Amino acid sequence: MTEELAAIQTEALTAIAAAHDDRTLDEARVTFLGKKGRLTVASSCMKDLPKEEKPAMGQALNETRQTITAALENKTEELQSQADAKLLAGIDLTMPGYCLPAGGLHPLTLIRDRAIQILRRLGFSLAEGPEIETEFHCFDALNTPADHPARNEKDTFYFDSGKLLRTHTSSVQIRTMEKAKQMPIRIIAPGSAYRRDEIDATHLSVFNQLEGLYVDKDVRLSDLKGTLEYFFQSLFGEKTEIRFRPHFFPFTEPSFEIDIKLHVKGHEPKWIEVAGCGMVDPAVFSSMSLRRGDETLLPEKVTGFAFGMGLDRLAMIEWGIRDIRRLIENDTRFLSQFA
Ligand code: PHE
Repeated sequence: MTEELAAIQTEALTAIAAAHDDRTLDEARVTFLGKKGRLTVASSCMKDLPKEEKPAMGQALNETRQTITAALENKTEELQSQADAKLLAGIDLTMPGYCLPAGGLHPLTLIRDRAIQILRRLGFSLAEGPEIETEFHCFDALNTPADHPARNEKDTFYFDSGKLLRTHTSSVQIRTMEKAKQMPIRIIAPGSAYRRDEIDATHLSVFNQLEGLYVDKDVRLSDLKGTLEYFFQSLFGEKTEIRFRPHFFPFTEPSFEIDIKLHVKGHEPKWIEVAGCGMVDPAVFSSMSLRRGDETLLPEKVTGFAFGMGLDRLAMIEWGIRDIRRLIENDTRFLSQFA
């Protein structure tokens, strides 16, 4: 039987060496190692051998099987690399490749990330809320009466369901206060807002805001002022002049608009509005307390400030972009300047 094994092995190796594609190689595998293959048949004779010969023969059988298996594996690899080489044969590796222009971040992304970075240093963390909002989160909870002009069909995109596209990111203030587990609350929320504005050089119907909210025991107007001065001076430079101009928002009291002084060569410097802000109106805390059914946000216990700024406007200031529409046109001649 030993000779027979040797013969099988020689024949198998010859057949494997002669195989020239996957099919002939597989035929060789079946012929020798298959269920009815030569080696399988040979091993079935084991049972007729005298007991003392069995171990040696078992070992010989195993070795033969291993040798044939290894030869099959080598041949498979060899065939594969031959096929690969064939595929590459027609390719001129010295030919220069295509030059793909590198992309870059959009100016809105750049300014948003810078803004986030500055506010993070002050301990604000990111929060978010849905862009399709309820009237409650966008208006009622923000102390905005039903007859307020912002709630008009002419100014706001409503769905048949009664929901709407949020007109500002202030709805995230409400979403955050609804579920806050502990004080302080110190969040920022960048995101899109929607208004039915005529589109022109300074208005889009989809624009970007960054909201901020800080609620704690004893938050003061001076905290608001210091935070936003620090913010704008970090963003636009230490020498940036900022002014707080009294204003009205239903959900803050007192309220301000923030202007920064813009210097454009060849023009008189002018004040330009960049944000709204104020101290959270106690009416907002009261309605939140009712909604939560606990005392965490009772207006006697906490105070807070909020702010909201237009990120598109900030990008326009930073890079002297005169038409807001450039930000949504995807014109690479414009965008590549920021890459
Ligand atoms: N939500 C206001 C707006 O869109 C801005 C604002 C935010 C004002 C927070 C005060 C506090 O105009």
